[in-house]
Amino acid sequence: MKVTFTLLIFLFAALTLNAENGHDLWLRAKHTAPVNVVCSGKSPTLEIAKQELHQGWQGKANATFVLKKKHDKLIKGDGYRLSPDGIEANTDLGLLYGVYDLLRRQQTGEPITEQVENPSYERRILDHWDNLDGTIERGYAGRSIFWHGKDSLAVTEKDKKLWQEYARADASIGINGAVLDNVNASPLVLTTEYLKRVQAIAEVLRPYGIKTYLSVNFASPSVIGGLKTSDPLDPQVKEWWKNKAKEIYKLIPDFGGFLVKANSEGQPGPQNFGRTHADGANTIADAVKPYGGIVMWRAFVYSANDEDRAKQAYNEFMPLDGKFHDNVIIQVKNGPVDFQPREPFSPLFGAMKKTPVMPELQVTQEYLGQAVHLVFLAPMWEEFLKSDTYQEGKGSTVARCTDGSIFQQTHTAIAGVANVGLDTNWCGHPFAQANWYAFGRLAWNNQLSSDQIADEWVKLTFKPTPAEDRTHSTVLPIVWNINFLKPVKRMMLESREAAVNYMMPLGLHHIFAPENHYGPGPWWAPKGVRKDWTPPYYHQADTLGIGFDRTENGSNAVSQYHEPLRSLFNDVNTCPEIYLLWFHHLPWNYQTQSGLTLWDDLCYHYQEGLDQVRSFQKTWDKAKPYVDKERFSVVQKKLRKQCINAQVWKDACLLYFQQFSRMPIPYNIERPVHNLKDLIENDMKRKR
Ligand code: GCU
Repeated sequence: MKVTFTLLIFLFAALTLNAENGHDLWLRAKHTAPVNVVCSGKSPTLEIAKQELHQGWQGKANATFVLKKKHDKLIKGDGYRLSPDGIEANTDLGLLYGVYDLLRRQQTGEPITEQVENPSYERRILDHWDNLDGTIERGYAGRSIFWHGKDSLAVTEKDKKLWQEYARADASIGINGAVLDNVNASPLVLTTEYLKRVQAIAEVLRPYGIKTYLSVNFASPSVIGGLKTSDPLDPQVKEWWKNKAKEIYKLIPDFGGFLVKANSEGQPGPQNFGRTHADGANTIADAVKPYGGIVMWRAFVYSANDEDRAKQAYNEFMPLDGKFHDNVIIQVKNGPVDFQPREPFSPLFGAMKKTPVMPELQVTQEYLGQAVHLVFLAPMWEEFLKSDTYQEGKGSTVARCTDGSIFQQTHTAIAGVANVGLDTNWCGHPFAQANWYAFGRLAWNNQLSSDQIADEWVKLTFKPTPAEDRTHSTVLPIVWNINFLKPVKRMMLESREAAVNYMMPLGLHHIFAPENHYGPGPWWAPKGVRKDWTPPYYHQADTLGIGFDRTENGSNAVSQYHEPLRSLFNDVNTCPEIYLLWFHHLPWNYQTQSGLTLWDDLCYHYQEGLDQVRSFQKTWDKAKPYVDKERFSVVQKKLRKQCINAQVWKDACLLYFQQFSRMPIPYNIERPVHNLKDLIENDMKRKR
């Protein structure tokens, strides 16, 4: 009996070493050496810090490591001072972050020298677009980890375990906030039965330093409060928000605040009552102010008028600069339209000088191949954060305009729309985990390079753990670096540009199939549909040329940028080619910097995108000896699908645009393998 039991344990151990279903994310390291942790303080957060050290220590066996709370002016917020023998911080959470940093360095082989690490943003938040019925808007990794519908509001042990794992993953990369429900918010979330569940979630998240926030529906006072109006200047409405805040803070004393999507895509807002965004935001902000809460008010607004959609948020919000109370932050998507594979930065960054602005990034890949395509988003976010707005002279990057380095800000924040769901591997695609990781790392340090983030993530996610090394010690680190780390990193770093190439190169944007935003749909423009919801509005292709004229002669969106960008974007000769068709409508035979005609250049970009995906397939197949079977085969299958999709994108766009260009597809690139008619009839929506 005893022998069988031991054998079973042995077998189980062997199996679990190999089992890599991705659930452990970048936190796969297991205990390797004993460590003596010295820490005089006591708190749930410190208990976690100590436990993590004991579980994950990979330094010298039996070393002594000190965690110490100490007031140090160089340490800001939940920052910390790291050294080989210990961590110092002003807060318990700072010590926990220091521990995660130390363990990451031990696992990735990065040096542990004395240094102070401070967060770029005070609030580093994941926005979950989770509906209360458990579905997720733009979610591709299963249902919600927070909500299972109104009949399942009771909290189970399973729920709590998952929330704890989620909180740990967030904390390990510095995320300190979670908005628990969709921006298209149900008023019901503010009713007591739902708030009780929020309270339970908050209790699990709290020791990991994660504050809970809620998206709220602006019409809540009338819909669930029984008031006649939700007019933000109505005294009863103000009172209603105050009482609601009081109720919430009684349940959740460290509640972070509210996120509001108002007067956008059909959501109610202050304009329904003839009031401004500032009136609306301030009423709600005043309600949470006594408790230290904030309101994140979204600037994602556009209506069905003749004005260029890319200009509308700026037009609406700039006149309100300075009119918001100091616990309001305006949440602005990185680009002026909508999380496209490539957009220039939104001109609101740096332009609103008297109101804090926070970037909103999309971690979930709504427009970037969802859970099928391997697209590492850090290069896109790096490009965005490093964009120079010139608003306060050269070097006024988006990062510096939002992190408090340039403007006096009571609060600084950054948000990412989460890609987390109930799927075992959390994110659907194993490589989509890298985007969650990258968001956290960039929110903590907005100067990090994509290269460094990819390097860390690949090592943490795929490197054989010391335990595996001992059992099947086959791979020398140098071999692993050359044969796995390097090529896989290269693939990740190239992957976003590849997606731009096979989806919408040279500044094209929003030419997706409707609604699901997955495949191509440049042709989609049924009668009666709002123009700015159809691709032809964005690409403007006709027999004369292609592209959206946003120059002074067109919509004049260029005027919203600070000089020298205004002139740079306005002049076709100086406009960066990555934004060419974003700002210019050009003839098909326009000569690009490559010396080719615009049409030929477009064709080559589509071909290049497809070729890049094919090269990713080769890279991954070659990496086979270094990856466990499970993750290898999942990624291999997804890359095959991505390749088929890239071919569809290329054929669909080239065959469709060719009707206007009336020029041949250059003969030295591959011929389309699909017919346009079939593609239009058999939209990719049905094939995902
Ligand atoms: C996009 C997305 C919507 C979402 C909206 C928003 O339009 O497709 O699902 O609600 O952005 O950010 O509010």
